[in-house]
Amino acid sequence: MSEKATINIFIFKRLVSFARPYKSLFLFAVLCTVTLAVLGSFRPYIIGDMVSKYVIKSKDGDKLIFWTIVVVGMLVMEGILQFSSSYLSNLLAQSVIKDIREKLFGHVLSFRMRYFDSTPVGALVTRVVSDLEAVTEVFSSGLIDIAGDLISLVFVISLMFFVDWELSLMTILPIPLLIFATRIFARAMRNSFQLERQQVTRLNTFVQERITGISIVQLFNRQKQEYKNFEEINKGHRQAHVNAVWANSIFFPIVEMLSSMSIALMLVWGAVYASGKTADQVEGMYAQIISFTLWVNMLFRPIRQLADKFNILQRGTVRAERVFEIIDLNDHIQNPGTVTSCDFNQTIHFKNIHFAYKDENWVLKNISLDIEAGSTVAFVGATGAGKSTIVNLLGRFYDYQKGEIFIGDSNIRDIELSYLRTNIAIVLQDVFLFSDTIHNNITLGDNSISREQVIAAAKEVGADVFIQKLPGGYDYQVGERGGVLSVGQRQLLSFIRASVYNPAILILDEATSSVDSESEELIQKATEKLTKGRTSIVIAHRLSTIQNSDKIVVLDAGEIMEIGSHQELLLHNGFYRKLYDRQFSDEKEAK
Ligand SMILES: Nc1ncnc2c1ncn2[C@@H]1O[C@H](COP(=O)(O)OP(=O)(O)O)[C@@H](O)[C@H]1O
Ligand SMILES: [Mg+2]
Repeated sequence: MSEKATINIFIFKRLVSFARPYKSLFLFAVLCTVTLAVLGSFRPYIIGDMVSKYVIKSKDGDKLIFWTIVVVGMLVMEGILQFSSSYLSNLLAQSVIKDIREKLFGHVLSFRMRYFDSTPVGALVTRVVSDLEAVTEVFSSGLIDIAGDLISLVFVISLMFFVDWELSLMTILPIPLLIFATRIFARAMRNSFQLERQQVTRLNTFVQERITGISIVQLFNRQKQEYKNFEEINKGHRQAHVNAVWANSIFFPIVEMLSSMSIALMLVWGAVYASGKTADQVEGMYAQIISFTLWVNMLFRPIRQLADKFNILQRGTVRAERVFEIIDLNDHIQNPGTVTSCDFNQTIHFKNIHFAYKDENWVLKNISLDIEAGSTVAFVGATGAGKSTIVNLLGRFYDYQKGEIFIGDSNIRDIELSYLRTNIAIVLQDVFLFSDTIHNNITLGDNSISREQVIAAAKEVGADVFIQKLPGGYDYQVGERGGVLSVGQRQLLSFIRASVYNPAILILDEATSSVDSESEELIQKATEKLTKGRTSIVIAHRLSTIQNSDKIVVLDAGEIMEIGSHQELLLHNGFYRKLYDRQFSDEKEAK
């Protein structure tokens, strides 16, 4: 994707509108920057005037000291203004970005699952973190600085022409050259920046994936190969940076050269002018040359920087556009419902549910099923049969296309989404833990849940013993993705999570599948405790764990094949019987 050298005005306006709550901060920052530009432009004039009047023409020591103090005062003022302008514009930038980031993240958090199915994590992280960084620069060093630079240019050029138009023309002669060079290098820089960004993304993605998948890398002895790949990518990364640095390094000497040329031209002009002039006229020239030498720098610096600043604005606007794209995306569950009081202790009715993740590839076909309040229903079936999908529909993580789901008399589409979800707890096979304490991983930051409640729940599911053994107990810091905890232990933590939230409806999706036999016993007991008297859906691979369920639902390819108790289904001699016999003989073989 190439970033063109234009700025999308609509996006830019929208971006600037985020500064509206900080209007006074913005105005104050602009005021400081503008005052600084004006004050700075006048200083060379005053110095030139001072030299001409009190050094060259009359040797008036007192006046000279007075004006020197004035100039020093101006310098101090400029210092203060410089500080204020930089501090205020950065404060403004960070405040604005904080708002945008909050808006963005809050928005992303509520997207429906379908969005996350098709968006890579890395891309989202880039949006929320690094893209926004580029947007920050628009406010911290783009927008306000450009105003300062432009005003400074206008004042410097006006003052120069006011003092001596011929000398001014001489001085600005190299400027077209500077503008030309700036354009060329701005383009070169833009290209190398783009390359740099691609390489950075490549490096990040590579490192992130290899570290996340480190166990596979080591297990299959891929270290050498992966290291080679890394070297390759790392080389590309260096090259991209070197290109950028090269463009940068050659540009600044050229600017220096041009500004020296400007001063040289001025001196040549002075020499030509001086020949055949009276001593008095030539003396006036000295003072002017002092002023002009100071002005030359004030002229060249902003012109050179304007290109940089324009790049910053442009880059920030392009990134802002991508951020806004996400903010504008309305990928939420449609119709989030309004009912906020309903009895979840009622029968759940699935009525002729049809569902497809994509188009018309039906993953669930005509699912009709009642789950009585307080009962435990088990879903069994091959991998991909649609067991997890049914559960996802109940929590409205996806919206079904046909049919209805009722809890008692309430259609779940009418129930407010967050209310619905607080009454349903889902324990998954793969437990995600945040890098935080055990306690916080259980409460998920809900401060109304006390330590006593957590401990009681842990005791209930039989996890208290192992947690107490950890250094720091409940304050033990869990590493990212669970760190040193075993699968079974992580599973138990998610049981505690479910228990303290005390939901009306509990769903266990293959919660026992990948657990060692020691933990399995604990988890089996915990399951019995948690499902007792609570409407529960248990999805299990091992049929031994669900034999006592009130109802067993056998699914195949998205359809219900059989429903009944363990005994009934065995007698029925159908799908369930086959599954059961197969597992039974497998277990025998294993022994
Ligand atoms: N997020 C998804 N996007 C598209 N297809 C999916 C998604 N999740 C599951 N599927 C597909 O839906 C079918 C049912 O999956 P699932 O309900 O997870 O099965 P089970 O839990 O019984 O193993 C499978 O064919 C699976 O590939
Ligand atoms: Mg599943």
